Amino acid sequence: MTETADIRNASGVLEQGDPAVDPRAFRRALGQFATGVTVIATSAGDQVVGLTANSFSAVSLDPPLVLWSIRKKSGRAPAFINNGHFTINVLAEDQMELAGMFGRPHEEQFAEIDWTAGRHGDPLLTGAIAHFECVNEAVLDGGDHHILVGRVERFARYDGAPLLFSQGQYGVSSSHPELALTAASAVAPCAEPAEEPLFMSLLQATDHHMSALFQAHRQQVGVTLPTSRVLNRLFRGPCTREVLEQEAFLGENAVENALSDLADEGQVVEAADGTWALTDKGREVRAALRRSAEAFTTAQLRGIPEADLAAAERVLRTLLDRGHPQG
Ligand SMILES: Cc1cc2nc3c(=O)[nH]c(=O)nc-3n(C[C@H](O)[C@H](O)[C@H](O)COP(=O)(O)O)c2cc1C
Repeated sequence: MTETADIRNASGVLEQGDPAVDPRAFRRALGQFATGVTVIATSAGDQVVGLTANSFSAVSLDPPLVLWSIRKKSGRAPAFINNGHFTINVLAEDQMELAGMFGRPHEEQFAEIDWTAGRHGDPLLTGAIAHFECVNEAVLDGGDHHILVGRVERFARYDGAPLLFSQGQYGVSSSHPELALTAASAVAPCAEPAEEPLFMSLLQATDHHMSALFQAHRQQVGVTLPTSRVLNRLFRGPCTREVLEQEAFLGENAVENALSDLADEGQVVEAADGTWALTDKGREVRAALRRSAEAFTTAQLRGIPEADLAAAERVLRTLLDRGHPQG
């Protein structure tokens, strides 16, 4: 068992209970399941509507069926039920902005993006990594959602990596670092000495390892990742909920939950114009988190000579600067 798994088991359950008593905790538990992100769209003449959805799932190969669910209260639900057809666009890792745009009520979304019409006129978004053109097979009752089962008439797959969504935030996929580190020796012929891992693989494995340790540390000090991101963003100045979603790279529900928790604890306030800001207490908590992150970093780096650290920092900064050239 890894060090992180030990910490996780030792700290025990984080939240549990009856979903009806604490719906937000229930949502956070559901968010432990990682998904891709889709934009699902339908059209009737000039009327085109679409929304971001991560409830998409494959159902059957023969016949080819998929499903997803839409909030019954969504203003767009009647269009999906009445039009009888829809397209599913699986978003690529560089389409986070589209996911945000289609995750909010917005009338002019399709005027602002590139798409072509599929066989029923439904949008096929340019840059998506897969398209599925569907007709409604069934609309089932799913509590506060309608479950739409679609029969896939046509599909297309494109090159590219998927955008992911889990724990209330967007992510990108990468091979598991243990695979990255063992891949070289796994493919090497047995008679050959094991190859040194690539620098890239080391970076990836280190990032994964440190992130997991830091997540465990965050849990121990009692903050969630969305809460700490919201505090960090508001520390730079007040902003609206929408700006928080974009700049803290969080989904709508994660921002809503974090703001609600922080407001309950008197750490943030909403102004009359809809902007959110830190209170004095919020500033104190954010400063304490910063100190705790610094202490965590110091503990991780202990025993490494200063000169090695300075050299490592120079290498990392050089690589980053090459990715984001100034001017
Ligand atoms: C990552 C992500 C996944 C979502 N998944 C769904 C979903 O599966 N079903 C749904 O009804 N809404 C989902 N939403 C919310 C809708 O996109 C959002 O409610 C809609 O765009 C707002 O329009 P409405 O007022 O018509 O609901 C999701 C939002 C995000 C950001």
